[in-house]
Amino acid sequence: MKTLAKSGVSLQTHRRKPNLRQSDLVSMWDDFIDWPARRAAENGFLERFFDGDIVRRVFDACLGTGCDSIHLLKQQLQVTSNEINPVFRKKARDNARRNGVRLRLTTHDWRNIDLLDTSFDAVICLGNSLCCLFDRKDQLQALNEFRRLLRTRGLLIIDERNFQRIFDDKEKIFADPTSYNISHVYCGKTVVGYPIEIEDDKVVMEYLDIRNAKTAHLILYPFKRDELRQLLVEAGFRPERIATFSDYKEGYDPRADFYQHVCMRS
Ligand SMILES: C[S@@+](CC[C@H](N)C(=O)[O-])C[C@H]1O[C@@H](n2cnc3c(N)ncnc32)[C@H](O)[C@@H]1O
Repeated sequence: MKTLAKSGVSLQTHRRKPNLRQSDLVSMWDDFIDWPARRAAENGFLERFFDGDIVRRVFDACLGTGCDSIHLLKQQLQVTSNEINPVFRKKARDNARRNGVRLRLTTHDWRNIDLLDTSFDAVICLGNSLCCLFDRKDQLQALNEFRRLLRTRGLLIIDERNFQRIFDDKEKIFADPTSYNISHVYCGKTVVGYPIEIEDDKVVMEYLDIRNAKTAHLILYPFKRDELRQLLVEAGFRPERIATFSDYKEGYDPRADFYQHVCMRS
């Protein structure tokens, strides 16, 4: 077990019962993201696709605490923000109020998005969210639903944590959790996240507030190399219409923190 520099708080990789209390997780989430740092690391990535008048209407499939929806609302886009979890919803509403914008909320499960509107210019599913679903059939169903909401030539932008790097570095991470460093998407310095269980079909992420040693956990399905891309093709996105980015740079970097896939509906 190593100690996080400066804080004196220990990062523990031994197994213990995960704290899955949503209120604990949600209370730490904004500090885990660090909103300005997420935008800075993105370096205008969303704007590259949303610039001009081509994209006006966006469906944010997973609002979370509102970081992406609120940013897009401030750019005058029309955003429908979906959030199934009431604790996240409440936090997002508070954040929207503080930022002077109003959320248009829906509460659908991705596997059955009960919306007749299929004319969105873009659907975003960001922050490594699809891996909240474990079953391949469910993942595929969600991607089918995201595709269904898009007009022709509309864009799905979806990201994933580079779990393959976690598998590759498993021994190193267990010996020293601080060796798992990321600086994209989840950029917080006071709340940090690292895997404490790494198995083929699940990864347990621990989120630690280094100011008070509070922890919360998420259990996630770890996509393997190319797995999500393959699912996107199965969901009907043509391979030549899927552009994959590594930490917002075009191309494939095996050491990236996250991958982003920009998929155009044919
Ligand atoms: C890791 S959080 C990411 C939130 C936000 N996009 C961000 O970047 O911070 C995962 C999100 O997926 C949502 N989610 C998980 N399973 C879902 C499902 N089956 N249907 C709809 N949303 C789901 C959660 O409620 C949460 O908003």
